[in-house]
Amino acid sequence: MRQPLKRFTTAALLLLVITAASEAEENAERDATSYVTRLGDLMVIMQIRHAKLFFAAKRGNWPLAAFELEQLSSSLKEAGRYYPKIVSTSDLADAAELKESVSVAIKAKDEANFDRSFDKMTAQCNGCHKVADRAFLFIRRPLSASAFSNQAYGVRRHRREDDVR
Ligand code: HEC
Repeated sequence: MRQPLKRFTTAALLLLVITAASEAEENAERDATSYVTRLGDLMVIMQIRHAKLFFAAKRGNWPLAAFELEQLSSSLKEAGRYYPKIVSTSDLADAAELKESVSVAIKAKDEANFDRSFDKMTAQCNGCHKVADRAFLFIRRPLSASAFSNQAYGVRRHRREDDVR
């Protein structure tokens, strides 16, 4: 009576082992060739998004601000995935809290609250740089959007794609 069930279980187990083995092989290949972004490169991307977030909020383009906040947060999570010794789970937990308060300000379209929570978030950037012996990397509110002046930060009234001036 028990025999067919046993045979089935053995077959299922075997299949599981084979699948796991081939996945491991595939991952090994992927690891050998996959590109991992350098931490400093991820940080430059975060720097860009930090500035874009600020200018979007200053121009009252809250949907864009929400988008840039999400992008910024994803970049830090990515840094945590690849560099867990530098960007620890407790750093990520702090960042999630700080992000939440910026997000609340964005949803409320509250510029004063945005400024406060943005500054607190920026302090975390500098706190970690200090701990990482990189206090010379000091992040602050951006002064002008000139480095990224090829993007419109205000709400677009004209929606023609060819109206790019
Ligand atoms: C938990 C740690 C941590 C946090 C949080 C963090 N950084 Fe960094 N950041 C680093 C480390 C470490 C380096 C140095 C990387 C290296 O030496 O290659 C760095 C480097 C940088 C650099 C220099 C990159 C370059 O090559 O010129 C910039 C800009 C930067 N971070 C921006 C930010 C911004 C903006 C934030 C916040 C929104 C932030 N960082 C948050 C750890 C952190």
